[in-house]
Amino acid sequence: MTYSAARLLRSLLLALPFAALAPAAPAPLVDAATEQRIDTLLAQMTVEEKVGQLHQLSNAFDTTGPVPEKPDELARYEAIRTGRTGSALNVGGAASVRRIQQLAVEGSRLHIPMIFGYDVIHGYRTIFPVPLAEAASWDLDAITLSARIAATEAAAAGVDWTFAPMVDIARDARWGRIMEGAGEDPYLGSAIAVARVRGFQGPDLRSPDAVAACLKHFAAYGFGEAGRDYNTADLSESTLQNVVLPPFRAAIAAGAATVMSSFNDIGGLPAVVHTRLQRTILKGEWRFPGFIVSDWGAIRESLAHGVSVDLRDAARLALLSGNDMDMESAAYSRHLASLVADGSVPATSLDDAVRRILRVKFALGLFDDPYRRCDPAREKRLLEAPEHLAAARDVARKSIVLLKNTGSLLPLDPKLRRIAVIGWLAGDKDTPLGNWRGQARPDSAISLLEGIRAAVGPRTVVDYAEGAKVTIGDRHAFMDSQYNTTDRSGFRAAVAAARKADVVVLALGEDAWQTGEGRSQTDIGLKGLQQELFAAVSAANPRTIVVLMNGRPLVLGRVAEKAPVLVEAWHLGSQAGHAIADVLFGQYNPSGKLPASFPRTVGQCPIYYAHKNTGRPIPGDGRVFWSHYTDTLNTPLYPFGFGLSYTTFNLSAPRLSATAIGPRETLQVTATVTNTGPRAGAEVVQLYTRDMVGSETRPVKELKGFRKIELQPGESREVVFPITSADLAYFTPRGVWEAEPGEFQVFVGNSSESDQPVTFTLRAE
Ligand code: NOJ
Repeated sequence: MTYSAARLLRSLLLALPFAALAPAAPAPLVDAATEQRIDTLLAQMTVEEKVGQLHQLSNAFDTTGPVPEKPDELARYEAIRTGRTGSALNVGGAASVRRIQQLAVEGSRLHIPMIFGYDVIHGYRTIFPVPLAEAASWDLDAITLSARIAATEAAAAGVDWTFAPMVDIARDARWGRIMEGAGEDPYLGSAIAVARVRGFQGPDLRSPDAVAACLKHFAAYGFGEAGRDYNTADLSESTLQNVVLPPFRAAIAAGAATVMSSFNDIGGLPAVVHTRLQRTILKGEWRFPGFIVSDWGAIRESLAHGVSVDLRDAARLALLSGNDMDMESAAYSRHLASLVADGSVPATSLDDAVRRILRVKFALGLFDDPYRRCDPAREKRLLEAPEHLAAARDVARKSIVLLKNTGSLLPLDPKLRRIAVIGWLAGDKDTPLGNWRGQARPDSAISLLEGIRAAVGPRTVVDYAEGAKVTIGDRHAFMDSQYNTTDRSGFRAAVAAARKADVVVLALGEDAWQTGEGRSQTDIGLKGLQQELFAAVSAANPRTIVVLMNGRPLVLGRVAEKAPVLVEAWHLGSQAGHAIADVLFGQYNPSGKLPASFPRTVGQCPIYYAHKNTGRPIPGDGRVFWSHYTDTLNTPLYPFGFGLSYTTFNLSAPRLSATAIGPRETLQVTATVTNTGPRAGAEVVQLYTRDMVGSETRPVKELKGFRKIELQPGESREVVFPITSADLAYFTPRGVWEAEPGEFQVFVGNSSESDQPVTFTLRAE
């Protein structure tokens, strides 16, 4: 590939990677009439009132980090009444929001409404699967619906703005927050980011059931070294551009109203003071019109990072580098006015930040009716509405991944004589709610045990035995010791129940609080006595079906080797037990696919399918000097994109419409998928490409498309994927998105391990 050829191609490409993912244009944040109203307001505002718009405080009752200072309630109210607090987070309920909003709107001089934010991550009161689980559905409509319902409930309870979706690509299962995103892949991650933004924001942000989305965490928060939360991310420009940024960019093109900067140091600068990320890329190159909020106390944390000398310096750096709203550092409220007064921060920079925040408030319709999301009657009617629970059950069963089904032990006959349900997690009504469970009622999930009891016929006996606890003591203690139980006193009952049963359903995994923010772990195996319990139970009854409940890929060890059946059931939300039972008894044929690789051992982390080839990819003469481990394989235990069904599918080799295409042409890749088994089911047909030679090294495979196809037994369907040069583009060393002419391989399959490549050439002309 020559430089001039690349330049020509570049000029022909769409500016936006993942362009095909962008939905129909949402209502724009910027329009001339609103900008004029903002001009008028800005002209009336004092510097203190402007700074107030940039200041966000948490309601004292619900903190998610260290609280720097807690002004007493009266002082807080006074700050709101005088226009010195523009936003609050964690204020629960329509009535409370209305009370505080009233203070701002009726009390303050310019009647500017506040914006109320909350972490609505996978549901508000009705809880959907944790985001990683939902990503396993590869069903964008289901994901949009889940976000839509979450928004409907949250907005009914006074929330204008959710701190979601988290669009951080994560390739290291040690990181506790992997549960909060869409997994390891930028293409799938972009599609899901867009789906979630569409769900949260709906077609019109003004609607009383829409909330503004917030893309987080900008950027590279998922790349913390060694999977440790808040840790430094040191990554190449290529990884930043090709892997980390695409979901943000796609979701901004889809109209996401706000962005949250991340806690981490990236290339020597904490994200909150990163001018290149915030001003050059996000607000400059991508023309993002909304605002950036810092993460909790992150402006203050620039002191600990060692890039600011004091809080005043931190405020200056953050504002200058493009951060608009200060969450819980009280840095802007204390120092910005004086920084503007002495010229350290230009007044125009302050005005720009205020403008962006007002824009979002206008777009949310808050100036027309600040109480549009504070109707207690609506709140009462909508939270946990029956149709929301029904949708949560459906999304949950779509998120389940069947990893192993030896001898077609599943699906079970609901008329079985006797089933033993074993495991502390099987009876737990808290864990399925997962971390970040909004305003879920405590212990409100349908447990696996309840789901199974509701699904079986009247003559089936269901025995339950706890076996051993997964968590002991206070589950909020966040200590590893809480997983170190040595109490085997429940084993005897578990083994006895297993012996008597036709089949055993054994729940293993993690409790709800083992993943999420601050929950990084170096041991991602089945903790405590779980392996031992499995050994005892499966020795008593080899027909042991293992149901996994977890928020991250786990190292499964002997359980994966020995269990005849493995069902990946994540933390599935309010209706978890029913959804799992639907799959166990064949009411729903599993169709989920892993959105993240499951390692064989934690030493393989970070592990992902789209790795580089290295210079020594294969054993060669069989000796030691090639890129591998001497104690395990390079491959994951279960790869990205993998998942089984109760039926079987056959996929033909891909057929290409041409062996070469020019930069303006489209290649059609066609494959035939046939349901060759006995049941109706859905298969996720996945398209991958490999760019054989680039001006920098390229991944061995990259997802470029997928379709979820439902087929009756014996039915066949042709799946067609169009490929253009835009799909083959990447951020090259020349600093632009471009497709480089040359040879490409195409793979169509049902996991990232799909083989049978066919080859085509991208011509320069
Ligand atoms: C810290 C988390 O990193 C962020 O994701 C969340 O939105 C804020 N806390 C607010 O709760």
